[in-house]
Amino acid sequence: SQIINPAGKQKVAQQIAQKVKDGDVLGVGSGSTVYMALLAIAERIKAEGLSILAIPTSLEITMFCAKLGIPLTTLFEHTPDWLFDGADEVDPNNGLIKGRGGAMFKEKLLIRSSPLNFIIVDDSKLVPKLGTNFPVPVEVYPQALLHVEAELKELGANSIALRPAKGKDGPVVTENNNLILDCRFNEIKDSLERDIKAITGVIESGLFIGYNLQILTAEND
Ligand code: A5P
Repeated sequence: SQIINPAGKQKVAQQIAQKVKDGDVLGVGSGSTVYMALLAIAERIKAEGLSILAIPTSLEITMFCAKLGIPLTTLFEHTPDWLFDGADEVDPNNGLIKGRGGAMFKEKLLIRSSPLNFIIVDDSKLVPKLGTNFPVPVEVYPQALLHVEAELKELGANSIALRPAKGKDGPVVTENNNLILDCRFNEIKDSLERDIKAITGVIESGLFIGYNLQILTAEND
């Protein structure tokens, strides 16, 4: 993952590692800030012999937990006690855009399943309004692509791009075997998340508006 502000990310990663208690079941989001937090947590596990379980949101993080020796579990067996995840944008009302890594379905499912959620970001992620820097990613069942595109235009999308794969021809295929449309809107109203989700063929969007979140930045500790 891209590391934009390693010092800021490192600081919030350490804050997360300090919150871990023996016996915790942790929901683990995706991205480089989460990666740094996991490194710090793995050090505490080693030094203090903590017993924790992780429920990961992406293959990348699953493999990383395995490499660090952090035991894994699933939502079939456990519910997270708390969760940490990164974000691509955070607005003043704690609204988020996520999904640069394409894992927003599992990220949202885990946030919905967890009673306590920490979003760890460096200050570059704080924006006056959602959509300032990032498009809204929408995960789409492949054969619904044309239908979903038409409906997104009805909702005010002024640019819609099928996310291309890196390093090979063709589109990004998500871990759920779907495609991603990156969409720009003139205005992101609070109702947009629900309106997008109501389109048949949409699996999930990267909008998180009105969720139970605590934002940790390098500045607010
Ligand atoms: C993953 O789908 C995203 O929502 C990430 O949480 C986001 O891209 C944060 O990544 P960094 O911590 O690498 O900035």
